[in-house]
Amino acid sequence: MAVAGELRGKVAIVTGGSRGIGRSMCLAFAAAGAQVVVASRTEHEPPPDSPFIKYGSGTINDTAQQIAVAGGEALAVPCDVTNSDDLRDLADRTVKHFGRIDIVVSNAGVDCESPVVDLEEELLDRTLTVNIRGPILLCKYVLPAMIEQKGGGSIFCITSGASQAYREGRVGYSMSKAALDRAYLSIAEEVREHDIAVNVLSPGRVDTWMNRHGDWPGTGHIPMEQPDSINEAAVWLATQKASTFTGQRIERAEFGINWGPSIPMPAR
Ligand SMILES: NC(=O)c1ccc[n+]([C@@H]2O[C@H](COP(=O)([O-])OP(=O)(O)OC[C@H]3O[C@@H](n4cnc5c(N)ncnc54)[C@H](OP(=O)(O)O)[C@@H]3O)[C@@H](O)[C@H]2O)c1
Repeated sequence: MAVAGELRGKVAIVTGGSRGIGRSMCLAFAAAGAQVVVASRTEHEPPPDSPFIKYGSGTINDTAQQIAVAGGEALAVPCDVTNSDDLRDLADRTVKHFGRIDIVVSNAGVDCESPVVDLEEELLDRTLTVNIRGPILLCKYVLPAMIEQKGGGSIFCITSGASQAYREGRVGYSMSKAALDRAYLSIAEEVREHDIAVNVLSPGRVDTWMNRHGDWPGTGHIPMEQPDSINEAAVWLATQKASTFTGQRIERAEFGINWGPSIPMPAR
């Protein structure tokens, strides 16, 4: 169980905070006492006749409002992670508004579902830009403030089981998540000396828009969890520093079993 107030005094940025897994982590961080910066593109609700409205709906303003109603503190920042100016602005606005950055979750992601022969080049480029370039530039722009604070911190990204296994029609997505894993595990080594943890969290199969609008062949046997299934693991990861837990690719379903409180960090 998460300990009440364990993120008090910390400032967290979550990309892809408008819906799904990202929204759930924003609410969980705020419930644990963090001030939360909710970042993604959607500021206004989609029209009610939009496809998959139950899953596709959600805005950064709604997430921030839900946090405020629950007694927490949040800032909604419009941010397209394909735009480096937006990412720089996200870091700047966070420091300006809350004075520091302690926790950063690179959660925004897109799917790329197509056999290679039919793959649209624009979709491939977008997947690379959102799933790899964006998360790396996010680190580029948040790290100077985190390093200067000298108190350590925690960064993690949301990967997928697809980064480690063949999934039919998902060459582009798998490749992007495998590259993301490698990038973040490498950044972990770059910032270890600053006591900043960098980890890679795989959430399992989660009931969100990404899952509902697609039809991922070969995943039907995997149980589908609700977005809040990630909360406990995410809050614990957010409390970590390089000296306690870093450079790990971990599965949400193994939290408390193979990693987590009272379980030693695997040797390097
Ligand atoms: N659902 C699963 O089973 C599953 C499994 C493994 C991994 N994942 C990963 O989990 C993460 C969250 O996905 P989800 O399942 O919660 O899907 P989702 O409901 O589709 O949410 C995706 C989020 O990413 C944001 N996003 C997309 N493109 C963006 C961009 N260019 N700039 C900023 N934000 C952007 C979206 O916000 P806006 O549209 O408002 O920008 C949205 O908040 C993704 O990285 C995904 O790959 C999901």
